[in-house]
Amino acid sequence: MTVLQGKTILVTGASSGIGKALCELLVARGAKVFGVTRRPALVPENVTPILADLTQRGQISAIFQNLGNLDALVNCAGVAYLSRIIDGNPADWEEMWRVNVMALSHCCQLSLKHFPASGGRIVNVSSMSGHRVPPTGGFYAPTKFAVRAITDALRAELKSVQSPIQVACVSPGFVDTPLLDQYFRGREQALTQTRAAMKMLEPDDVAWAILTILEAPAHVEIGDILMRSAEQQM
Ligand SMILES: NC(=O)c1ccc[n+]([C@@H]2O[C@H](COP(=O)([O-])OP(=O)(O)OC[C@H]3O[C@@H](n4cnc5c(N)ncnc54)[C@H](OP(=O)(O)O)[C@@H]3O)[C@@H](O)[C@H]2O)c1
Repeated sequence: MTVLQGKTILVTGASSGIGKALCELLVARGAKVFGVTRRPALVPENVTPILADLTQRGQISAIFQNLGNLDALVNCAGVAYLSRIIDGNPADWEEMWRVNVMALSHCCQLSLKHFPASGGRIVNVSSMSGHRVPPTGGFYAPTKFAVRAITDALRAELKSVQSPIQVACVSPGFVDTPLLDQYFRGREQALTQTRAAMKMLEPDDVAWAILTILEAPAHVEIGDILMRSAEQQM
C-alpha cells in the first residue's frame, strides 16, 4: 500500500513528456488520476482523460465542474516557443502566457475548493529558465519566472489563511521531450548539438521529483526543486 493509493490527482499535460510519465507513476501507485489534454487518446492507460484547451478560460472552468475531491493538482502543461523579445511573434507570446501562466493560475484557484479540510498539494512545473534567462530565453523564460512568483504568492496567501494546502515548484533544465522540438523549431541543428553535448534529463527523472513532493509526510513541505542534467552547464 503506497501513500498515494486511492488519492485523487489532477495532472495537466497528461498526454506527453513529464506529465505523461508522472501519470504512469501515479497509476502504478494506485492513485486515481485525471489527465487534462487536447489529445485524450494519448493519455496513459487507467488515467481518466479530461478534454480541454488550456488557452480557453471556459474550458478550464469546465475541467473542475464535475470534479469531486482532489488530493493533489500538478500543473505540467506548457508551451515553449523560441520567440525573442526583439523579433518574436506576439501570437507565440500570447499562447505561452495563456497556457504557462494564466491556465496554471486559473487551475490553482479553481482547485482550492476541491481539497479536503486536511489539505493537499499543488505542484507547478517551472523551469531552470525561470531562474536565469538564457540568451535564447525570449518570452518563454518570463513565463517561467511568473510560475515561480505565482507559486510563492499562492503559498504565502494559503499560509495567511491557515490553509494546510502545500504548494511547490519544480524547475528542470533540459528534458528530452517533444517540447524541445517546439523550442528548437527552425534550429534543428542546435538541438542535435545540445543532445550530443549532454545526457539530458528524462521525463521520468522529473516525474520522480514531483512524486517525492507528493509522497512526503504531511509535516514536510518541499517548496522548490531545481534539477538539471549533470552535464548541463547552467
Ligand atoms: N522539456 C524540457 O526541456 C523542459 C524543461 C523545463 C521545464 N519544462 C516544462 O515542463 C512542462 C512539461 O513539458 P514537457 O517537456 O513534458 O512538454 P511536452 O512533452 O511538449 O508536453 C506538453 C503538454 O502540455 C499540454 N498542452 C500544451 N498546450 C496545451 C493547451 N493549449 N491545452 C491543453 N494542454 C496543452 C500538451 O497537451 P496536448 O497537446 O495533448 O493538449 C502536453 O501534454 C512544461 O511546463 C514545460 O515548460 C520542460
